[in-house]
Amino acid sequence: MKMLNQNQIDDFHESGFVVLPGFKSKAEVDALKVAALDLVRRHDFSAYKAVFSTGDELQKSNAYHQFFLASANSVRCFFEDGALDDSGELLVARERAINKIGHALHDLEKEFIAFSHGEKLAQLANDIELSRPQIWQSMYIFKQPHIGAEVNWHQDSGFFYTTPQSVTTFWFAIDDATLENGCLWVEPGGHKSPLRQRMIRKVDKTEIVNLDHTPWPDQSKARPVEVSAGTLVCFNGMLPHYSAPNTSENSRNAFTLHVTDGQCVYAPQNWIQRPQDFPVRGFV
Ligand code: FE2
Repeated sequence: MKMLNQNQIDDFHESGFVVLPGFKSKAEVDALKVAALDLVRRHDFSAYKAVFSTGDELQKSNAYHQFFLASANSVRCFFEDGALDDSGELLVARERAINKIGHALHDLEKEFIAFSHGEKLAQLANDIELSRPQIWQSMYIFKQPHIGAEVNWHQDSGFFYTTPQSVTTFWFAIDDATLENGCLWVEPGGHKSPLRQRMIRKVDKTEIVNLDHTPWPDQSKARPVEVSAGTLVCFNGMLPHYSAPNTSENSRNAFTLHVTDGQCVYAPQNWIQRPQDFPVRGFV
């Protein structure tokens, strides 16, 4: 059975996104939230602390790149800016200091594997003509009360470049997402604009390359996507989007999957590459 009716499919192609309230049950969402917090509590932070407690700014930057690249096919926790002091010690409780967990939760952690796979997702992918889905990346984003920062306009396709473009983002609201706690903002129809930037992997770092000078949309073209927990916002990787800072008392947790079509050519310069013994997989 299809997950989308023809109107929704047409709307997805026209506006670049579709909003599916209640795609995940409260039980599924709650289980993922518990699993994320549990992961944070038992996570070994020594590698991250080491990045921020050694050397000068250049050494810190190099160490951070290595830490980031190593997260491609593993599970690592990232802190909010300013959550650690100069010696790498946490300034606030780890549950409040965490920014996100990434980037292979969907293949390595039990609750996340369950959440990221299944017939519903496979059918949805089929409805939007993602013929051979490949899940490259997962992120659990915390967007903490008061300190969850803004994420500027960008297009996800630049991080998972394929020819032709096929990146699709599956954005699950784990908490209600509102104007106050930093919901997603999109430019409806903006997926028809060119790809502005692309992230290229060098040996031991990544680099942002400018591809097109089309400006990011002005605020009059941005539309907020306020949704309740359990909603799936599925959008074209070319769709410009951003999220505002969280100025509220409430967290705005979200879980994202970045998926390409295996029928398209996945660029060898993309930052996530899978070794043969850890192949990229689809929804089933
Ligand atoms: Fe994004």
